[in-house]
Amino acid sequence: MVANRLPVDLVVSPDGTRTWKQSPGGLVTALEPMLRSREGAWVGWPGVPDTDVEPLENDGLLLHPVRLAADEVADYYEGFSNATLWPLYHDVVERPVYDRNWWNAYVRINERFADEVAKIAAPGACVWVQDYQLQLVPAMLRELRPDLRIGFFLHIPFPPTELFMQLPWRTQIVQGLLGADLVGFHTPGGVRNFRWLTARLAGAQSTSGGRGEVRYGGRTITVGAFPISIDSGSLDRLSRSRAVRERAAQIRAELGSPKRVVLGVDRLDYTKGINQRLVAFHELLTAGRISAEDTVMIQLATPSRERVEHYQRLRADIEQTVGRINGEFARVGYPPVHYLHRSLPRDELAAFFVAADVMLVTPLRDGMNLVAKEYVACRNDLSGALVLSEFTGAAIELKESFLVNPHDVDGLGNTLFEALTVDSEDGRRRMRALRRQVLTHDVDRWARSFLSTLGMPDATAGENHDGGQSAARAGHN
Ligand code: ADP
Ligand code: F6P
Repeated sequence: MVANRLPVDLVVSPDGTRTWKQSPGGLVTALEPMLRSREGAWVGWPGVPDTDVEPLENDGLLLHPVRLAADEVADYYEGFSNATLWPLYHDVVERPVYDRNWWNAYVRINERFADEVAKIAAPGACVWVQDYQLQLVPAMLRELRPDLRIGFFLHIPFPPTELFMQLPWRTQIVQGLLGADLVGFHTPGGVRNFRWLTARLAGAQSTSGGRGEVRYGGRTITVGAFPISIDSGSLDRLSRSRAVRERAAQIRAELGSPKRVVLGVDRLDYTKGINQRLVAFHELLTAGRISAEDTVMIQLATPSRERVEHYQRLRADIEQTVGRINGEFARVGYPPVHYLHRSLPRDELAAFFVAADVMLVTPLRDGMNLVAKEYVACRNDLSGALVLSEFTGAAIELKESFLVNPHDVDGLGNTLFEALTVDSEDGRRRMRALRRQVLTHDVDRWARSFLSTLGMPDATAGENHDGGQSAARAGHN
């Protein structure tokens, strides 16, 4: 596995002691349990600059750290990855910055990752490269090690062709990806956009093969949609545990036992539509359609990319909006919005999912959004309602949610109100259908599908031989 981050971040305390904590984001949530069960190796950055870390074993996973200097973190990670590609690939909801120095750093760091993999991969090994930070690695690695099978998966949306064409280095990116044997996206839309660009920018020829193949440089590259998922079975079990149930009840009691709890859980990112959902909640309070005594909102926000200017502005905006709502509607000791700017442990997060009557997932654009699936996995009793943005990859699969356009504040408010007041039979019908989808399409199925398409010989190792039936039954509660 090759990803910008290792699955764990190094934490160096002031006395020099080193510990590891789980890295943020959906990529790690999805891939870490899957790779541990396959005893793989993971090449990535340990999350702190200017620090040498020797290869190590962490709970059954071999970690191969890639060193990044502080200026490389600024140019390759904060710059090109997160101030150029991230906004460009998310429908330019913020304006992408095109900077030649950042691009040069991106090329250099992609070379470093490719060199590291070339050194450690066994002959004929399967190498799976992840996400937008490493789009040049497939071609670089093929050059160094033509014996490898190389897969690439993009965890964020692949943009409309008109937007991608803005990128001054568009041809190099497409050629970089075409170094893989298999290029995967979350949605068929991403596949279509990429295939069009391979023809336009690299002169690749499309074939009419099943999943979609293109011919380039004398090779055939498969391009397909593989919607990622979560370890839904284990989250379902965790959410049923006594400890999590009790903690969920305690959370509701600590909130003052309101009639309804609304929840948002995100990295603090401008693509997530956090401000839009706060505004919609505010307008329902102002219009008197809900009351602060009855309905409480919790927003959990993991700190993210805090040195990038877009993120600093976003945090200030959100904190101002939360302050305004609470200033207007709080009673002493009972604010209508509870905002926690921190990451929570998995069982605590599961308790919040169990405690929430309505889950608000309102990104302006999101490749998949795992939080939506996590909420559904935690609703074993079929209560709860999911409000889900149409602009997430998850919306294609979770059709029985309350789908919403987050740019439409009235629509968002009305849909939130509808979810808060849904009659129990309709709510249970929707949740039953959502759970069937999430529990039968878990991350292991996703990984097996990708790896078997890539031609990995033991891709079906560890397969559940009841063909997913037990998971399907769990969805039928
Ligand atoms: P992204 O990859 O853009 O961050 P996803 O929704 O796909 O978005 O994945 C986010 C992951 O991070 C989920 O597994 C979610 O549970 C986790 N997460 C988000 N916020 C928190 C938080 N405050 N504490 C703990 N985990 C969080
Ligand atoms: O898929 C989105 C993603 O960027 C992942 O690549 C990453 O693991 C996660 O979000 C968190 O972002 P970062 O690594 O920049 O903190």
